[in-house]
Formats: sequence, C-alpha cells, structure tokens
Amino acid sequence: MTLFLPEAPEVSPKNDKLPPAAATTLEAYLHGYRLSALVHAAISLNIGEYFAKGGLGVAALCEKTGWHPEALQLFLEALASIGLLDLNAGKYTLTKLGQGILPSNIASLTSALTSFKTLYSSFLDLPEVVRSGGPVDQVGAPCYWSRFRREDSVRKEFYANVENSLSKYLDPLLAEIDVSSATHVIDIGGATGMLLNAILSRWPYLRGTLMERPEVVMDLQRHAGLVGEDLVFDLIPSDFFRHIPAGGDLYILCRVLHDWADEEAQTILTNCASAMSAGARLLLIEKTITKENEADMALHNLKMMVLFGGKERTLPQFAKLLNNAGLEFTGARKTNSPLNVIEARKR
Ligand SMILES: C[S@@+](CC[C@H](N)C(=O)[O-])C[C@H]1O[C@@H](n2cnc3c(N)ncnc32)[C@H](O)[C@@H]1O
Repeated sequence: MTLFLPEAPEVSPKNDKLPPAAATTLEAYLHGYRLSALVHAAISLNIGEYFAKGGLGVAALCEKTGWHPEALQLFLEALASIGLLDLNAGKYTLTKLGQGILPSNIASLTSALTSFKTLYSSFLDLPEVVRSGGPVDQVGAPCYWSRFRREDSVRKEFYANVENSLSKYLDPLLAEIDVSSATHVIDIGGATGMLLNAILSRWPYLRGTLMERPEVVMDLQRHAGLVGEDLVFDLIPSDFFRHIPAGGDLYILCRVLHDWADEEAQTILTNCASAMSAGARLLLIEKTITKENEADMALHNLKMMVLFGGKERTLPQFAKLLNNAGLEFTGARKTNSPLNVIEARKR
C-alpha cells in the first residue's frame, strides 16, 4: 500500500525538531491524491488495452486516440514515474505492475473503481465528519441513501459493486451457511438477491423472500437485467427501521449492519427480533475486526464512516448488539473469505 511512499520515520514527541524525513513523509501523504487519480484515469482511459499488444510511442497513441499530444506525453511520463510504464527507445510498454490495468486483470479493482468518485469527494469532508461524528450526508453533502433513492446511476454503481464483491465470496459463504431446519429464508437488505438466489439454487426446497428498499424492489421488478433471470423469490419493499416481515425461520443480514452506527444497528436488530418467532435463527454475515486485521481495518472503517456513518465490528461487539436486541448469540463460523457467519437465535 505504501509502495511509493517513504517509510514513516520515528518521531519522539519530546523532540521538538521535526526530522526532515517526517516532513517528506507527510508531504507524500498529502500528495496521495495524485496517485489515486492517476491510476483511476489510466483505467478510465483504457490505457492498458492500447498497450496490450506491445509498445507505443506518444505519436502512435495520439493517432489511435485523438488525445492531446502534450497532455498525453505528461500523462504517460507520470505513469512511468509510478512504475506502470517503461520507456525504451521512444516506446512505452506496460511493466509487471502496469499489467494490472489490462482489461483482463482489472476485475479485482472493480469495487475500488466504481465508487472512486463518490469516495474521493466524500473523503474531502473528513474533517467535518470527525467534528460531527456523522457521515457526509449529515454535514452538508447530499445523503448517500437519499442519492441512492433518487439517482438511478448511484444504484447501478452500487449494485455493480456489491455483486462484484459478493460473487467472490458466494462459494465460501454457502459452505458455512447452515440451513438445517429452515423452510423460509428472509434476506433483509439483500440488494439484487445474489446471495438469496445462490441459497435457493443450492437448497431449492426453501422458500425465499427478499426485503429491500422500495427503489431496489422497483428496479428488480423492472427486471433491470440485474439477476439475469426470472425472480425465484418474493419481494417485499420495506424500511428495516420501521418494519421487518414476520414468517421466516431463517433471517439473513449480509453486510448490512456495517453501514450503520451502533444506535441504528441496534434498531435494525431489535426490529428483526420482533419479526422472529421463538426458535427462528438470524445469520449476520459480516467482516469482523480481529487483532490480525485491525490495522488494515482502520482505513476501511474510515470509509464506512465517511460514506455511511457505519463501521466494521469485533465479534464481541456483534454479540453485544444481538444480546441487547433480545437475541441469543450462538456462535460464529469463519469462511474462506473475509466474511464470517455470525449466528443467533430468538430466545
Ligand atoms: C451493503 S448492502 C448489502 C447488500 C447485500 N446484502 C450484499 O451483501 O451484497 C446494504 C443493503 O441494505 C439496503 N438498505 C439500506 N437501507 C435500508 C433500509 N432502510 N431498509 C431496507 N434496506 C435497506 C440497501 O439497499 C443495500 O442493498
């Protein structure tokens, strides 16, 4: 991650003279926007594709693209300076690192790419978020969820994002989801139904219901090509802060609680517990913070806070929320993915 940044030097708080290396490090951190914008632009402009078949000079690339020669020259020089291109005898070629932006290799970057502009601008509000404790929506910029409700393009970006990341985890999740004794699965906030579809394909005797925000349900009803086939589950439009449908014996909240601060997460769980009858089970599918990943999670958590006012949690934090909602935390299963399946039962 700090590939192009100098190592942070040790600075003793007692030492009032700042070593020059510290200033260099801080300046490099402040200039970090250049790196992300450069890589984002290289992928947006499909630079990888132009170099896929071999080296090109600036003039040849200009001819292919019609782009501005001087701007392109500076852009390619900058890409070479961060190790994505090599320059030999007037021709640029992709380096090993640069091959990561070839169209065939960028699948793993989809989630970072689709939300790039939203996140990039949201992070500029970080000082306000820290002062207020709220996500950017509460400090002036339009609320993510209200943009989500109004703007088709925001939802489209969101669906692409969640489907892309979830598709990588489906098999490991299915291996750890216990549907024994279940007859009716209700996926709350299940987006386009990718997980529910996978569950119903694996265990076709189960009945499935997807509960989502009304705008998502409308998108699904319009068959916006999102699930690619006829819906095999019932759809219920609702707001999980107001009402969660009764009647399921297995409820799922997959990557939902991490969008919310404790107070809201508690309300969702309490509403879920009210909908559940005795013996019904709830699966929370979430990342959990552990000693091993807490450093990596710190920056990720900042993103959750800036965008949604949410956060990732430790297993004891989930257990506490579950218990406060009147649910019994019964255990957690690690999956062969960053997600865990946390199990609870209605007492
Ligand atoms: C991070 S996504 C998780 C989607 C899916 N479960 C997955 O793991 O791919 C959170 C989901 O919660 C839904 N959601 C947000 N606010 C909601 C609300 N008030 N009521 C119902 N669903 C809501 C969103 O539409 C979104 O699909």
